[in-house]
Amino acid sequence: MSSFLQLFHSFPLKVVAGHGIYLTLEDGKDYVDLFSGLGVNLLGHNHPDILTALSEPFPIHLSALLEHPLKEEVASNLTRITGFDKVFFSNSGTEAIEGAIKLMWKWLKKRGKNNERVIAFRNSFHGRTLGSMTVTDLLSYQGFPKLEFTTVFLPFDDADMLTKEIEHGCSFVIMEPIQGAAGVKIASQDFYKTLSILHREFGFGLIADEIQSGLCRSGEFLASTLFGIEPDIVTLAKGLGGGLPLGAILLKERIADAIKPGDHGTTMGGNYLSLRLSKVVIKNVLELLDHVRNLDTLMKDILIPQLLSNQKIKEVRQKGLFIAIELKDNKADEVKDVLFEKGFLVNSIRKKIIRLLPPLIISIDELKNAFQQLNEVIENFNF
Ligand SMILES: Cc1ncc(COP(=O)(O)O)c(C=O)c1O
Repeated sequence: MSSFLQLFHSFPLKVVAGHGIYLTLEDGKDYVDLFSGLGVNLLGHNHPDILTALSEPFPIHLSALLEHPLKEEVASNLTRITGFDKVFFSNSGTEAIEGAIKLMWKWLKKRGKNNERVIAFRNSFHGRTLGSMTVTDLLSYQGFPKLEFTTVFLPFDDADMLTKEIEHGCSFVIMEPIQGAAGVKIASQDFYKTLSILHREFGFGLIADEIQSGLCRSGEFLASTLFGIEPDIVTLAKGLGGGLPLGAILLKERIADAIKPGDHGTTMGGNYLSLRLSKVVIKNVLELLDHVRNLDTLMKDILIPQLLSNQKIKEVRQKGLFIAIELKDNKADEVKDVLFEKGFLVNSIRKKIIRLLPPLIISIDELKNAFQQLNEVIENFNF
């Protein structure tokens, strides 16, 4: 019997090695990793720059009480790329969300505006700690205790309802610009535009959770840019630490001005080694941005139309290398299993959806081949 408390349905074979987009499993076969450690391994496995960064000797952990140049260097890289003013580091995505809510609350309180409802969206996912779960619709069935404020969950793409609810009063809105765990749900441009106009007009706080959509996966460093959204706070995590735990809260000066030392903190957040890897990640994903955009065009022009001619596929949703294939039937787990036998690792969610989060280094031929295999497997399925 295993001593490990298994809370996930893992693949049946153990990993023994990894290189590029491939993982070698205990059967000795190389598998194409099309979900990159749940969206973390943006540069694939054992990227040479990551290995070099890991090999340089330095104290691994220094705590927030000791200064080192990397903290400022990574923070200023992020502010320069995104136009935000300040960055605070955390260990994980959910912890970045907790911090974002706390910092947002401080700013709202300073303005006497923390007494109204919070708006989040149906099928949202922001993490598994209790604060994040308060704004996470997908986990509300679990019945854990919530933070005290009232969260109203609105349909993700309903601009009229959003307008009506904002007019009723709202402290802050939290959203994933592209909903990842929901199955790569993208709202209409009209919805994003309405949100931006309301944000400017009513002055509520806006948190964009880019933990899954950020770091060039969507074809922009931040997916918010794709839709013209200008949040007050953005959260990042997943691939930011190059495989080590690291999250970040990016905030505008006006929010930072409401925060004083002691309002928030962390022991391990932004540890030296994670930051060293994040410097490598940020440089490399920016260099891969044109490549991701080329792949985006290839998918839109050729690969997705091919998938859509498959009678068993209901819809394909995609921005950059953020991709969901929705089947007409509840066969996603079975499709995942057959793809596994054929040497492809994909993620099945919500019964009908195959989610692909390939590493950004995937080549044109590798992506074409993956789509072809996927198409064939789904076509040969009996439903
Ligand atoms: C959009 C989004 N927010 C928050 C989280 C939570 O991040 P973590 O698992 O690092 O706590 C995730 C994780 O999948 C996510 O996709």
